[in-house]
Amino acid sequence: MENIDWKSLPFGYLKTDYNTRCTYRDGKWGKIEISDSEYVNVHIAATGLHYGQEAFEGLKAFMGKDGKVRLFRWQENAERLRNSANGILMQEVPNEIFYESIITVIKNNKRFIPPYGSGASLYLRPLLFGSGAKVGISPADEYTFLVFATPVGPYFKQGFKPVDMLLTREFDRAAPRGTGNIKVGGNYAAGLRGMRKAHANGFASVLFLDAKEKKYIDECGPANFFGIKNNTYITPKSDSILPSITNKSLIELAKDLGLNAERRPITDVELETFEEVGACGTAAVISPIRKIVDDETGKTYHYTKDDIPGPISTKLYHKLQAIQTGDEPDKFGWVEIVKID
Ligand code: PLP
Ligand code: COI
Repeated sequence: MENIDWKSLPFGYLKTDYNTRCTYRDGKWGKIEISDSEYVNVHIAATGLHYGQEAFEGLKAFMGKDGKVRLFRWQENAERLRNSANGILMQEVPNEIFYESIITVIKNNKRFIPPYGSGASLYLRPLLFGSGAKVGISPADEYTFLVFATPVGPYFKQGFKPVDMLLTREFDRAAPRGTGNIKVGGNYAAGLRGMRKAHANGFASVLFLDAKEKKYIDECGPANFFGIKNNTYITPKSDSILPSITNKSLIELAKDLGLNAERRPITDVELETFEEVGACGTAAVISPIRKIVDDETGKTYHYTKDDIPGPISTKLYHKLQAIQTGDEPDKFGWVEIVKID
């Protein structure tokens, strides 16, 4: 695409050429259809609209220096979407349909794959929702699975630069035995007020505490949280956070770099003790955190010096990106080369 300024792409929606749709009806999945429309025709009583039967995924395809397109750990996203479907009683999407839809969308939007070195990538957004009509509260009989693509830059406009987070005690994102551990739209709606408060006060995002005790770090609006101290990568263990594929990968990379890795509850008090902290996710990649401010006490935790990301976060960031773009060998078996011709 001649007229896209790849290097300044925001994390936003840009119309691409094609998307796919597939419907589960009468007890079986139909054919994957390719569409050039940005719209879906939905029943006015669809459960996805009324009762929140809706889940989504987010994954990226990267252009390498070698001209090959790489997909990062798509099987993990497919599995998480099945967990999300189970969590809100939707029909699961089989791996084959998930994969074929994604590949079809990449192939049909080749001209939107950002070039190597631009820092941008092709973001894929699979979406599953109840499209069957119900008025009483119950799971739908019909489901729609669609996938669209849009080229994106970094989620936080700063890119790999430290951002500020507002730790909120005013709003909760998810309850311990609710839906915080699956990727359903309702979690994001629940997080909007916290996010708005953060943005209104000049913060890049919000950091949520566990809803029960308001004592443990849960996660950031769109990403998991990690802290580093004493040569150890530490990330929260909690029933109400999304199991991030990026975080899971960073744990492996940290170990590979000779760090220890721990997944355990992190209290707000412990925030004081970290040498580096950050947010991680597909969209956020790694966003180093400069400071965290408690919205009730005003207590402020400072991390970076002179706005420079910490050395370990920097190493992890470069390692992850090198694997995703094929600059470094993928010894973990995380990337799949997509044949697009
Ligand atoms: N947590 C939340 C709430 C998210 O929306 C995301 C994004 O998908 C993540 C964490 C990071 O997960 P992943 O690394 O799998 O993208
Ligand atoms: C992602 O990282 O893919 C996300 O889903 C984060 C956010 C844009 C919802």
